[in-house]
Amino acid sequence: MSASRFSDTVSATLTDDVLVVTIDNPPVNALSADVRAGLMAALDHAEKDSAVVAVILTGTGNTFIGGADIKEFGKPPIEPLLPLVIARVEKFAKPVVAAINGAALGGGLEVALACHERIASPSAKIGLPEVKLGIVPGAGGTQRLPRLIGTVAAIELIANGRIVLANEADKLGIIDSLIENSLIDSAIVSARSAADVPLRRTGTLPVPPGSQEAVDKAAAEALRKARGQRAPAEAVRLVRLAATASLAEGLAEERRTFVTLRDSDEAAALRHVFFAERAAGKVDGLEKVSPRKIETVGIVGTGLMGSGIAVAALNAGYSVIGIEQTREAADKGRERIAGILDKAVQSGRLDTAGRDDRLSRLTVAADAAELAQADLVIEAVFDDLTVKTELFQRLDGILRTDAILATNTSYLDPDAITTATAHPKRVVGLHFFSPANIMRLLEVVNCKRTAPDVLASALAFAKRLGKLPIVCGVTEGFIGNRIFSAYRREAEFMVEDGALPHEIDAALEVYGFPMGLFAVYDMAGLEIAWARRKRQAATRDPAARYVVIADRLCEAGRFGQKVGRGWYSYPDGKRTVDAEVTALIKAARAEKDITPKSFTADEIVTRLLKAMADEGDALLAEGIAARASDIDLVMINGYGFPPHKGGPMFAAGRR
Ligand code: 3HC
Repeated sequence: MSASRFSDTVSATLTDDVLVVTIDNPPVNALSADVRAGLMAALDHAEKDSAVVAVILTGTGNTFIGGADIKEFGKPPIEPLLPLVIARVEKFAKPVVAAINGAALGGGLEVALACHERIASPSAKIGLPEVKLGIVPGAGGTQRLPRLIGTVAAIELIANGRIVLANEADKLGIIDSLIENSLIDSAIVSARSAADVPLRRTGTLPVPPGSQEAVDKAAAEALRKARGQRAPAEAVRLVRLAATASLAEGLAEERRTFVTLRDSDEAAALRHVFFAERAAGKVDGLEKVSPRKIETVGIVGTGLMGSGIAVAALNAGYSVIGIEQTREAADKGRERIAGILDKAVQSGRLDTAGRDDRLSRLTVAADAAELAQADLVIEAVFDDLTVKTELFQRLDGILRTDAILATNTSYLDPDAITTATAHPKRVVGLHFFSPANIMRLLEVVNCKRTAPDVLASALAFAKRLGKLPIVCGVTEGFIGNRIFSAYRREAEFMVEDGALPHEIDAALEVYGFPMGLFAVYDMAGLEIAWARRKRQAATRDPAARYVVIADRLCEAGRFGQKVGRGWYSYPDGKRTVDAEVTALIKAARAEKDITPKSFTADEIVTRLLKAMADEGDALLAEGIAARASDIDLVMINGYGFPPHKGGPMFAAGRR
C-alpha cells in the first residue's frame, strides 16, 4: 500500500491496483478550490499510472462531501470549477466508485452521481438541498439525478431540497448498494470488477419514461410549498428539461440558472440564514463548560403548552414526568399527550411501536413529590407571577439541589420568579413556541443569576430536542415578542395614518409572509391582547401614541375568526373586508384629526421593516440579543418572516 498527497485536503493510498482517494477538509469536506484541484491531480495520477485499474472517492469523518464551499460564493471563481471536475470523473476511462461514508449533499452528491458506481454506508445522508440556499444544483444534479430515479422522484427531492437516508436512497436507485461494514473494502472489490465491464456513465442514460400527470402533480406540489421563491420553480424546470434536452444542453442551462440565482438577493438572504443557524446558540466562554446530565424531565402543567413540551421531550428520548394538581387533571394531561402521539401515528409520522415506547417513558402524576427524580423541571403553568412564584417555592422543597428549574413564561420577568427560590443559579428560561412539539424556535433566557453550566445544559437540551435555541437576556416578551410588539404597533399606526388592514396584509403576503398581521390577529383571537392592554392601561405613558381601534373592535364583540368577525368578517369562513371595520377606523382617525394618506405596498413593508430593525437595534444595544442574526432567526422561525428575505435585520440592512 503506497500513499500520495495531491493537495492539502486530498490524498490517496494505492491498495494493490485500486487508488483510494480521500478528501479531508474539515468540518464537512466541502469542495473548496484546494479539494477540486486535489481531485483533478488525483485523476491525472490515476490516468497516467498503469498500476491503477480503478479509483475510489471517499471522505473522512461523518461526511462524504458536504457540498460546494458556500463560503466561496460571492468571491471570484477559482479554477478548476466543479462542473469540470465532475465531467472528468464521468468520462474517466477507469472505473470511479463513490464510497459514500456519510453526508453526500449538493455538490457532494453531484460528484457521486458522476461516478460509475455508488456504494454507501447506512449512516449516509443524501440530497440536493440547494433550493434551501436559494439556488439550484450547479454541477449536474438536475440532469443526472432524473436519469437515475426518474423525473417525479427527482422533482420531489430537488425542488423541496429533501435529504434522504441511505436506505431510501437505495430504494430510489440513487445508490447501487448499501454496505453495513468495511465500506472501503467492498468499494475496492466493486471497483476492480467494474474494470472488466463497460462503465455505467449516468449522463449517457436516458431519463426513464413516466406519467406526465404524475410529473405535473409533483411540480405543482413543489411550487405550492415554494411560496414565491424562485429556486424551486427553476429546479422543476431544469429537471423537466433533462427528459428532452441533451446532457450538454441541460448542463449549460443548469449552470446559467445556478449562476444567476447564486448572485440573487434571495440566495444571499438564505446563505445568511444558513450561517445564522450555525452561529445561534453559541455563547462566548461557554464552549468549555460541561452541561449537566439530563435524562428525566419534569413538566408542571400539561395543558396545551406543557403537553407539546412533553411530546418534544419524549420524541428526543427523555423520560417525562408530567405534574397536575388533581388525579383527574393528570389523567386528562396524559390523554392530551397520548392524543398528540396518536395523531402522529395516524398521519404516518410515527409507528405504533414508537408511540408505545414514548408512552412507556411517560408518567403523569398529581403529586409534585414525583419530581424528586427529575434532572430538569419546566414549569408550564398559567402565566401569572403569583402562581409561578408559589410553585417555585414549593419546588425548592422537592427538587434535588443539582436539578435545573426552567420557566416557560412568555411575558413575566423570570428574574422576579427566581426571587422565590433559594437556588436562583439553577433557574433558566425556556420559552417554547406553540405547538411546542412542532415549532423549532426556543428562546433560552439567560437570567441574571443563571449559572454557566445551567445555560450550557439548557442549550444541550434544546439541541437534543432538535430545536433552534436562541439565547436572550431578560426583557419583557424576550426577543420575539418585543420585535413583534414593535411591528404590531407600527402596523396599527399605519392603519390610523391611512392604510387599511387588508392593504397591509396584502403587502406582507406579497413580501412572503404566509399570512398578513391582521389576519393572524383574527386567527389567534383578539381578547387576550385586549385583556393585557386593559391591565396595562394604568401604567401606560399617557403621552405615548395609542391606537384605540383594536379596543373598539373588541368592545363591538369582534373577537376574531372564531366569532366570524374581527379585523375582517368571515361569511362562509372566507376572509372579507368589512365596511363596519372601515367605518370604525375612519371614525378613530377623525377623532385625532388625522388626514389619511395612501401607502404603496413597498412603503408599508419598508415602514414595518424599519420598526422591527429599530427594535432589534435596541435589543442589541441593551445586550438582550447577542447578534443581529439571532433576531432574524427568531422572526423567521417564530413569526412567519419569510426566510428568503433573511429576517428583518438583514432585510432592513439591504434596503
Ligand atoms: N460550505 C462551507 N461551510 C459549510 C458547509 C458548506 N457547504 N456546510 C457546512 N459548513 C460549515 C458550517 O458553517 C459550520 O461551520 P462553523 O463550525 O464555523 O459554524 C460547520 O461547517 C459545521 O456545520 P454544521 O454545524 O451544519 O454540521 P453538522 O455536522 O450538523 O451537519 C452537514 C453537517 C449535514 C453537512 C450540514 O453542515 C449541511 O447541511 N451543510 C450544507 C449542505 C448543503 O447545503 N450543501 C449544498 C451546498 S451548495 C452546492 O453544493 C452547490 C452545487 O450544486 C454547485
